[in-house]
Amino acid sequence: FPVDKIRNFCIIAHIDHGKSTLADRLLEMTGAIAKTEKNKQVLDKLQVERERGITVKAQTASLFYSHDRQEYLLNLIDTPGHVDFSYEVSRSLSACQGVLLIIDANQGIQAQTVANFYLAFEAQLTIIPVINKIDLKNADPERVESQIEKVFDIPREECIRISAKLGTNVETVLQAVVERIPPPAGSIDDPFKALVFDSNFDHYRGVVANIAVFGGRVKKGDKIVSAYLCKTYEVNELGLLRPEEHPTQKLFAGQVGYIVAGMKDVKEAQIGDTLYHQEQPVEAHPGFKPAKAMVFAGMYPMDQSEYPALRSAIERLTLNDSSVTVQRDSSLALGAGWRLGFLGLLHMEVFNQRLEQEYNASVIVTAPTVPYKAVLSSAKLIKEHGSEELTIVNPAQFPDRSVVSEYLEPMVLGTILAPETHTGKIMSLCLSRRAVQKNMVYIDDQRVMMKYLFPLNEIVVDFYDLLKSLSSGYASFDYENAGYQTADLIKMDILLNGRPVEELTTIVHRDRAYSTGKAMCERLKESIPRQMFEIAVQAAIGSKVIARETIKAYRKNVLAKCYGGDITRKMKLLKKQADGKKKMRRIGNVEVPKDAFISVLKRK
Ligand code: GTP
Repeated sequence: FPVDKIRNFCIIAHIDHGKSTLADRLLEMTGAIAKTEKNKQVLDKLQVERERGITVKAQTASLFYSHDRQEYLLNLIDTPGHVDFSYEVSRSLSACQGVLLIIDANQGIQAQTVANFYLAFEAQLTIIPVINKIDLKNADPERVESQIEKVFDIPREECIRISAKLGTNVETVLQAVVERIPPPAGSIDDPFKALVFDSNFDHYRGVVANIAVFGGRVKKGDKIVSAYLCKTYEVNELGLLRPEEHPTQKLFAGQVGYIVAGMKDVKEAQIGDTLYHQEQPVEAHPGFKPAKAMVFAGMYPMDQSEYPALRSAIERLTLNDSSVTVQRDSSLALGAGWRLGFLGLLHMEVFNQRLEQEYNASVIVTAPTVPYKAVLSSAKLIKEHGSEELTIVNPAQFPDRSVVSEYLEPMVLGTILAPETHTGKIMSLCLSRRAVQKNMVYIDDQRVMMKYLFPLNEIVVDFYDLLKSLSSGYASFDYENAGYQTADLIKMDILLNGRPVEELTTIVHRDRAYSTGKAMCERLKESIPRQMFEIAVQAAIGSKVIARETIKAYRKNVLAKCYGGDITRKMKLLKKQADGKKKMRRIGNVEVPKDAFISVLKRK
C-alpha cells in the first residue's frame, strides 16, 4: 500500500458515548467482520470489559475501504476510554494522524470528552467531531454543536451527525477519515522505526506487540532493538490486525500491525517504546515514560495455603499488564502477600475482578493509598536510603515527623461537567475534599465546567460515587496528574481491642484526622459482626486515642431457629455459617470480614 493511501485514526469518547458500537459498524461496512449479533463489540475482548461495558485494553483493526475508485487502508486504533488509562490513550494517539471525537447527542460534552480532546489537540491531530445517537428521542444535536463550537472552537459545519446503532450516516464518517485526515509522514526508504503502542502476552509465542511503523520496513528474521532496554530480538512473526492476526511477509512505513520477537515479558515491550533495526539506530520516539502507579494496595490470600495459587494468578495477570507494579509484602495479621501499584482506582478494581473471575482467586485487598513523599532531614537516613526524598507506598512505613523536614502529597487537576442546578452541592463536596477551585465556565445555558486542584488521596476512594449520586448521575469527572504539594500529614492507627492493625493504618491530613478516624471506627463497627466478647474499635495518633466505637458481645446461634429435627435443614444452616466464616479473617482474636479492609475508607 502506498503511504498516501493509508489513514491511521483513533476513536475517542466519553464512556458509553458509543465508541465500540461505531467501531463495530466501521468493521462491518469494510467487511472485516460479518454482520451478526454475535459480533457485537468484537473489539472489547476481555470478559470484564463486556460486563462493565468499558474498554480496558486498546485493540486495533486494519480496514480496507474504497472511495472514489481508490483503495485505502484505514487503521483503526481502539483506545481505552477511562482516565486511569490516559497514558495508553496518548500513546495510541501518537500512532495516529487523526481522531473521531464521539459525543452523545443527548448528553453532550462530558469530562472525558474534554480530556480526550486536549490529548488529541496537543498531539496536533485532525479532530473530526461525530455526534452519535441522533436516533434517541431527546437527542439535541444542535445544542451539542453549539457546545463544540464554544468549548473546542471547532465550527459546527465540521460535525457529523450519526446513529452508530442504526448505521445512519456512518459512511460519511469513513469518507471524512479519507478526506480530512492526512496520511502518515514516513517513507519506506527511511530506516525502520516503529512505535509500540500496545502489548499482550501469549503463552506460546511470548509478547505480541502492536506497532505503528513510522519509517522503513521490517520482515521475518530481522534483528530489531528496543530503544528503552537496548535489547536485541529476532522477528519471528508479523502481520496485520483485522482485528484477528493476519500474518504477512513484511510491514511497511505507515502500516499498523503486530510483531512477535521472542520477548518473554511485557516489560520488554513497554507502551511508548521505539523499535529499530540493529544496524540502523534511530532517535527514539519522544516522551516515553513507563506508566506510573498512583494507587497502591496490599493483596493477601484469604488463607495462607492459597498463597502459591494467588502468586501464580498475579504473575499471569501482570504478564499482560506492565503498568501494574508488584512488591512482596507481609503483615503480622494477614501473613505473606503483595503490595501492588495501579494507575488508578478503576484499574485496581478491574485487576481484582479479573483475579477473581479468571483465576478464581479469593483475595483480601487493603484500603488503597497514594504515593506520598517525605523529605528526610536526618543525615543518617538520607545516607541509608541514598536520597533525600522517600516515596511511601505503605502507610505502615510512614517515617516519623522527627526525621522529616516536610511531607508531600500527589495532586491532580480535576474537571467536572454538570448541570448548573447541581453546582452548589458539587462545590461543597469539593471543598470538603480540600480542593481549590481553578476555573468555572458555562458551556451552554444549562451546563457548567469546573476545574479543581485536588489532593489525589481525597478522590481515590469514593469521590466519583458521591459526585454521581448527588447529581443523579449527571455529573462527569476526569483528572490529570498535577505534581506534588507540601501537606501536613500524620499517621493514624486503628486498634481492635487495643491491638494496632497495620493493614488499617492510614495517612491523613491533620485537619481531617478526627473526622476520618471517627468515620473509620463507625464503618468498622458496621462491618465487623458481633462476637463472643466485646470489641473496642479505636483510632489513634501516636498514643492518643481520637475516636472509639464498641461492638457488643453476642453469640449467634444459628440452630435456634430450627425447631424439631429436620437434619438437612440443620446441615444447610451450618454450612451457610461455615461459608460466612470463610469470608472472615482472624486478627488477634477478632474475626474481620474481608471487605472491611477496603470499605473502611468509604465516607457517606
Ligand atoms: P466504552 O467502551 O465503555 O467507552 O463505551 P463505548 O463508548 O464504547 O460505548 P458503546 O459502544 O458500548 O455504547 C454504549 C451504549 O450506547 C450501548 O448500550 C449502545 O448500544 C448504545 N449506543 C451506541 N450508539 C448508539 C446510537 O447511535 N443510538 C442509540 N440509541 N444507542 C447507541
